[in-house]
Amino acid sequence: MLLKVENLCKDFPVEFSIFGKPKKFLKAVQEVSFEIEKGSVFSIVGESGSGKSTIARILSGIYSASSGKIIYENKVFEKNMKSSDIQMVFQDPDSSLDPRKTVSFIVEEGLRIHKILSKKERKRLVLDTVKSVGLTEDVLKKYPHQLSGGQKQRVAIARALILKPKVLILDEPTSALDVSVQAQILNLLIELKEKYELTYILITHDLKIVNHLSDQTMVMYLGQIMEIGKTEYVIQDPLHPYTKGLLESVPKIGTQNLANFSIKGEIPSPLNQPKGCVFKTRCPLAFEKCFESPKLTEIGDRKIRCHLYEKEV
Ligand SMILES: Nc1ncnc2c1ncn2[C@@H]1O[C@H](COP(=O)(O)OP(=O)(O)OP(=O)(O)O)[C@@H](O)[C@H]1O
Ligand code: SF4
Ligand SMILES: [Mg+2]
Repeated sequence: MLLKVENLCKDFPVEFSIFGKPKKFLKAVQEVSFEIEKGSVFSIVGESGSGKSTIARILSGIYSASSGKIIYENKVFEKNMKSSDIQMVFQDPDSSLDPRKTVSFIVEEGLRIHKILSKKERKRLVLDTVKSVGLTEDVLKKYPHQLSGGQKQRVAIARALILKPKVLILDEPTSALDVSVQAQILNLLIELKEKYELTYILITHDLKIVNHLSDQTMVMYLGQIMEIGKTEYVIQDPLHPYTKGLLESVPKIGTQNLANFSIKGEIPSPLNQPKGCVFKTRCPLAFEKCFESPKLTEIGDRKIRCHLYEKEV
């Protein structure tokens, strides 16, 4: 197992006492556990605010976890630990690329921070990496605003790749791009994965991409796992009412097992989460027991958090 996450939690302090002590927390990630095999694609899906980017930011060392364990290559990550093996491509290249810096500076940055290689060797590697993502030498002197959306995302990928990571976290890698460019970036990512034997953590709202690319899928809602397992089960034959609702908007992936409903209503405020099952305010199958919190239960090769699937004890 390359990466193992156990009971990961992230609580953001959102209200403070007059002495600066946190008195109210937003539970962004709650008891999340998963395992990722080397060379696989692990997808995280769920509506806005479900905690996907927070998990990505913890794994890439930007945030520290409130509790839980991250085990990478059989070593436990200490608090605030950062590994150059795990790199992230951010949701929006416009905000993740510094507008005042040239492409050359941006791509080289990781090497400078980690004090890797001589200046000459760094320049050579920057050029090779930029070429490996399908850009030409002339972009090196340009600033982000002089690039197209697709070129910006290629720069963001080059910046992550230059540190020769083993795991690449792709947070909505194509959502900010035009439809015509999305396929090009996806194809590039598929090619890079093969070439550099990468493992991907893919965060996306596009369930067709998830179905096409990923080995395992984790479905999140308000910081909790609703369903997790092999993509062929979770996406092609979903069981959890939330996963079924998500897939309802993507009819092409639908199978005979899809229930005929979509998710109605608003996502509750993460600061005021429903008691019991967090999905109960929108679940068409909610019943009395849903006022109690369901446990994540193993059903065959997947896990589901729903009373409908809890085994009788
Ligand atoms: N730095 C922060 N401080 C306080 N709350 C935060 C912070 N970052 C995220 N949150 C909150 O944590 C929850 C999860 O946010 P996160 O960005 O992980 O969601 P997401 O699943 O990536 O959503 P999206 O699909 O919109 O990108 C949200 O309610 C968000 O408002
Ligand atoms: S536990 Fe109840 S409310 Fe939650 S998903 Fe299952 S049926 Fe719906
Ligand atoms: Mg996000």
